[in-house]
Amino acid sequence: MEKKRVTIVGAGNVGATTARAFAEMNCVQEVVLLDVVEGIPQGKALDIQESASLRAFDTTVTGTNDYAATAGSVVTVITAGVTRKPGMSRDDLLGTNAKIVAGVTRSILEHSPDTIFIVVSNPVDIMTQLVRQLSGPPKQRVLGMAGVLDTARFQTFVAEEVGCSYQDVVGMVLGGHGDQMVPLLRLCSAGGVPVRELISADRLQEIVSRTQKGGAEIVSLLKTGSAFFAPGVSVAEMARAVVTDSKRVMPCVAALEGEFGIRDIMMGVPCVLGIDGVEKILDFPLDAEERALMDASAASIRKNAEFIKDYR
Ligand code: LAC
Repeated sequence: MEKKRVTIVGAGNVGATTARAFAEMNCVQEVVLLDVVEGIPQGKALDIQESASLRAFDTTVTGTNDYAATAGSVVTVITAGVTRKPGMSRDDLLGTNAKIVAGVTRSILEHSPDTIFIVVSNPVDIMTQLVRQLSGPPKQRVLGMAGVLDTARFQTFVAEEVGCSYQDVVGMVLGGHGDQMVPLLRLCSAGGVPVRELISADRLQEIVSRTQKGGAEIVSLLKTGSAFFAPGVSVAEMARAVVTDSKRVMPCVAALEGEFGIRDIMMGVPCVLGIDGVEKILDFPLDAEERALMDASAASIRKNAEFIKDYR
């Protein structure tokens, strides 16, 4: 195992689930779980560590309130911030989470100036842009988690509709992590068979809509918080792709400079992930309908980006 450290900021449900999933991947020497609340990161880290012999991993899991313990992190995951209550949109979290995420970013950069940030705090497209603004170039070092989760939700619903293994559905959800995210039906298949040949257009539209509201569906069931199992595993997979330099293709929030005809914002596009972060964006032509949906998603991100444009 390589001597690498990965930090997860925020020891709430998403942070702790990420720490556990990532530690079990056994691909770095140390996972640091950091939170402002005393005892919580320490307690959760110890609890995860005590599962090491059972889950067969050697990663050290450290809980801390001190940014000095994060020094030299190759990847930093930011989950800090408040989550939605029923009836709230992710955008309602903007003001509160911008302050929290900006503070976290500055503290992390003091100890890990070259870290690759994976941002999870919502609204994630804007929070990712904020971290990028505060950390400066190179742009591939800052990415956000949304598309991996949204795609996993979409694939789950499609597999249940087809009646096939969850593992055999391949899909791609692009755009912003909001009600206007863009599941690309044209590219979705079950074991290579286009799902448009298997599922009626009306039913597929219902699946798209359920995917777009996937986070809210969980919030309305839990009532006291938002999803964390699938989000935590999604982040862990992205972090693994970076630290192992695997070049996996995953939809991530990335800085756009003309890809898909969009520039000056960050949103979900297919990325090749490796040790330098977003090493490549896989740009390809969209049809007219897909383009219109991507443009609408971009417009809603652009409106919110106004809010953070003066943050330095
Ligand atoms: C969700 C949160 C992570 O979609 O935004 O559940």
